[in-house]
Amino acid sequence: MKLNGIFARLIITNFIPLVFLSMFMSFIFFNIQKLDRLMKQITLVEIPVIEKTDRLSGIILRQIEFREKYIISADTDFLRQYEEYTDSFRKVLAELDAVAAGERKLQALAKLRTAYNEYFQAEKVYIRNGGKGSYVPSVNSVSAALEDLRGVAASKREKALKTSGKLVEQVRTEIFVFIVTGGVLIVCLAYLNTRSIALPIRKLSENTRRVAQGKYPDHIGTGGPSEIRRLSEDFGTMVRRLKESDELRTEFIGNVSHELRTPLTSIYEASSMLKEDYFINDRESSERLLNIIETESKRMINSVSNILEITRLDIEQDSYNIAPVDIGRAAVSSIEKTAPIAAGRGIAVVSDIAPDLMVYADEEKLSLVFVNLIGNALKYSGDGSFVKVTAERKDSLLTVCVSDNGTGIDSEELSLIFERYRQGSNRSTEYKGTGLGLAICRKIIEKHGGTIWAESQKGCGSRFFFTLRCV
Ligand SMILES: Nc1ncnc2c1ncn2[C@@H]1O[C@H](COP(=O)(O)OP(=O)(O)OP(=O)(O)O)[C@@H](O)[C@H]1O
Ligand SMILES: [Mg+2]
Repeated sequence: MKLNGIFARLIITNFIPLVFLSMFMSFIFFNIQKLDRLMKQITLVEIPVIEKTDRLSGIILRQIEFREKYIISADTDFLRQYEEYTDSFRKVLAELDAVAAGERKLQALAKLRTAYNEYFQAEKVYIRNGGKGSYVPSVNSVSAALEDLRGVAASKREKALKTSGKLVEQVRTEIFVFIVTGGVLIVCLAYLNTRSIALPIRKLSENTRRVAQGKYPDHIGTGGPSEIRRLSEDFGTMVRRLKESDELRTEFIGNVSHELRTPLTSIYEASSMLKEDYFINDRESSERLLNIIETESKRMINSVSNILEITRLDIEQDSYNIAPVDIGRAAVSSIEKTAPIAAGRGIAVVSDIAPDLMVYADEEKLSLVFVNLIGNALKYSGDGSFVKVTAERKDSLLTVCVSDNGTGIDSEELSLIFERYRQGSNRSTEYKGTGLGLAICRKIIEKHGGTIWAESQKGCGSRFFFTLRCV
């Protein structure tokens, strides 16, 4: 998973609200738990303590009532009922022991027990004496102790109720804040997320529109998630290719019109003059006009084939069919192609390449290199001279040389002649060219991973070298 991809972005942006929501939820949950503890304390401790204290107050009154009834009537039934109430007082006291918690309540309970025990002892004496000769036992200390215990429990309940009321209010506010901030956060993140995806797409679509209008933006980079970046990079490559092919088309039209207009004008003028019988009785002039037509036509054929060839090489960048080729045989077959010109000029063209020397090359394109180099050697050499093709192997590299003893090249021009439409100062007036031959050779050799260069001295012939990889 790419960290900058759309999927990762969505995960990250959804994860942020999730973290935020879980933090907020745990805070709310913590407060609810606190509330729950408080409610438990009220229902399980304070309310039972209050209720039992109230029961004890009732029991003690009934205990006094039956004590007095027994004293007056001496009826043992009343004594039994009196004893039942004292028992139930102790029972409820024991129940209180089980529910009462907290220092103040336990203290109040201990005080109640002591007060009741003292009261009970006094009551026992009082009953034994039949109510005579002793004071009526006072229940005040028991009532005060009961009041005290009830007060502690009631005040605790009040306090807990107040705290829980506040907590409920706090939880309500927290839930409200949680909903509002959560909503705002989700909207903001969704906005940022869609913006980071939508903006690069908008930029890409603007660039597409521009390309559709024939304008080629220099920079397509849109940024954004990796998927969109990859799309814009591919789009950029496509635009570059489109631009290159557009430029090639324009250059091609320019070259063709430039290279063809001059010879065509000459041919047109010469043929018009011939048609008008201008030189009907002047055979020499008529022949001159026919010669013009012939050379200009040849020049036009040469120009057209060179322009077509270099344009084809520009377009078919990847159509090289590299395979093992016998370099000696390739040289000989190219020499044969140029043989008619060489024979016409009395120039000897020889190959001195060892047999079975194999190189990696596209045979058809390699032959184009040989034909151009040998053609140049013939073009720029005097009649009766010689042209030689040799090859030397060093490790896995083969250096091929086409040498002549022709006009040679100016040393300043040596580095320029491989550029398109560059012709040297020695260019022939007899064989006008386009200056594309060496540019074609360089393009082919470089595509093979080799290099091409020339060594020459004005008036001392030239040597053209190129390298290829041996099999
Ligand atoms: N063997 C050579 N001897 C002397 N000069 C040469 C030789 N080969 C090339 N040149 C020089 O290099 C220039 C460029 O050569 P290139 O083959 O590119 O063009 P061209 O021969 O003039 O025209 P084209 O090949 O297009 O018909 C030539 O004009 C010429 O000045
Ligand atoms: Mg040439």
